Amino acid sequence: MKSTLEENLKDLREYLKKVEYLNSAISVLYWDARVMIPKKGVEYRSEVIGYLSTELYKLQTSDTVKEYIDYFEGKDGLDKVSQSMVEKVKKEYNKSKKIPEDRYTKYVVLTSRAEDKWGEAKNKSDFSIFKPYLEEIVSMNKEFIGYWGYKKDKYDTLLDFYEPGITVEKLDSVFGELKDATIELLNKIKKSTHVPETKFFKGNYPSKGQEELGKAFLNHMGFDFEAGRLDETMHPFTIEFSNKDVRITTNYELNDLRPSLFSCIHEGGHAIYEQNIPDDLKGTTLGNGVSMGIHESQSRFYENIIGRSREFWTALYPEITKRYPEYKKVSLDDFYRGINVVEPSFVRCDADELTYSLHIIIRYEIEKMLINDKIEVEDLPKVWNEKYEEYLGITPRNDAEGVLQDIHWASGDFGYFPSYALGNLYGAQFLNKMKKDIPDLSERISKGDLLVVKDWLKENIHKYGSIYTPAELLLKVTGEPLTAKYFIDYLNKKYSEIYAL
Ligand code: CO
Repeated sequence: MKSTLEENLKDLREYLKKVEYLNSAISVLYWDARVMIPKKGVEYRSEVIGYLSTELYKLQTSDTVKEYIDYFEGKDGLDKVSQSMVEKVKKEYNKSKKIPEDRYTKYVVLTSRAEDKWGEAKNKSDFSIFKPYLEEIVSMNKEFIGYWGYKKDKYDTLLDFYEPGITVEKLDSVFGELKDATIELLNKIKKSTHVPETKFFKGNYPSKGQEELGKAFLNHMGFDFEAGRLDETMHPFTIEFSNKDVRITTNYELNDLRPSLFSCIHEGGHAIYEQNIPDDLKGTTLGNGVSMGIHESQSRFYENIIGRSREFWTALYPEITKRYPEYKKVSLDDFYRGINVVEPSFVRCDADELTYSLHIIIRYEIEKMLINDKIEVEDLPKVWNEKYEEYLGITPRNDAEGVLQDIHWASGDFGYFPSYALGNLYGAQFLNKMKKDIPDLSERISKGDLLVVKDWLKENIHKYGSIYTPAELLLKVTGEPLTAKYFIDYLNKKYSEIYAL
């Protein structure tokens, strides 16, 4: 270590730059493997990514990192950015270092094999093929929680990796409220006779035209095409190599404009977040979105709160009618109601804005029970189907459209799902504050001014990268802690109007 705090901070940032370079390189290779790679190149590419990931792991858990952590422990005089930087380095170090190396290696091999078996089980719609692998994954997660430790609930430790600071206690409270309110509203909607028309969405839409449409909407939102790209993959995703190169993908359904258009808007929301993060956070590892939940709040804000609003389509419906003249016969009102139709469905990815949270809450309740030994893996198909019947009123016909639909558990990502629904709650809290700050927000969006939204998000959220924890950020921006209240109010108001409740 050098003699002054400043010198050592500078050195640590130089060290972390190497971590970021490796991360960036791995991301490029990963993007290429999902978007461009010829079939025969896949195997060698996995080896290269595997090697670089090990190098990254070594950098993040080296003795040098330990020396920095010890040196900065309890040091006064650190500014907020440096404090958060040291905190994050320490967290990453502990997460990896507390697991015995042979157990960690075993887990990596296990999850990669499990993803394969999950694919096979899903194709054959047979949970029993995946079951032994999932049993081992759950058991190893419990073992790891033993190494990491926990305060109140074992599941808290897993939640914390994706949403720092969030706990079962907090989620039980907000998800409980959200669940009751959503089911109540859904039951009213089911009885309504004022059902939106959706037949007119079906047609013939070649992908070239859909790509141009997606790009037009991304331009309106303020996505910077000089610092990003749009490409095509089976499953849409966003990945960043730096704040100057953020890539998104979409998937085109040739008989319906909606899936690709709304996935472009969603991924565009993730990407604008990353593009807006300031350059001076480079070399701190804080130059990314703060958490999965806050990230999802930005994408779902654009996709649903803005992208499925009447104001947004008042301005942008001509983008559709000028490209697809058949839509001239569909009124703006019918179109608006059609994109907001509520229909309980089996598959999370196809869910509408209202029922989406129920898909997440079901997964949350199941994960919590699994980790706390309240149910066994073999009970999953039964518990899953019972919850779908109880909350959504539908029972999956088979495992493929039920318990096997998502890859997350095969990848070992326990604790990840709640972020999606948290994004909904955060988003509505941000909207409430945005409306107070910009009294003519509705009017401006109706006139097509979406940059007012982007600028507010940049100024209040994006520019902080991950300097603050999600809870700190939420409090800083809105003056309030996490609550389900605003999202519930928003849903009730919106759907009461659409369904004439
Ligand atoms: Co997303």
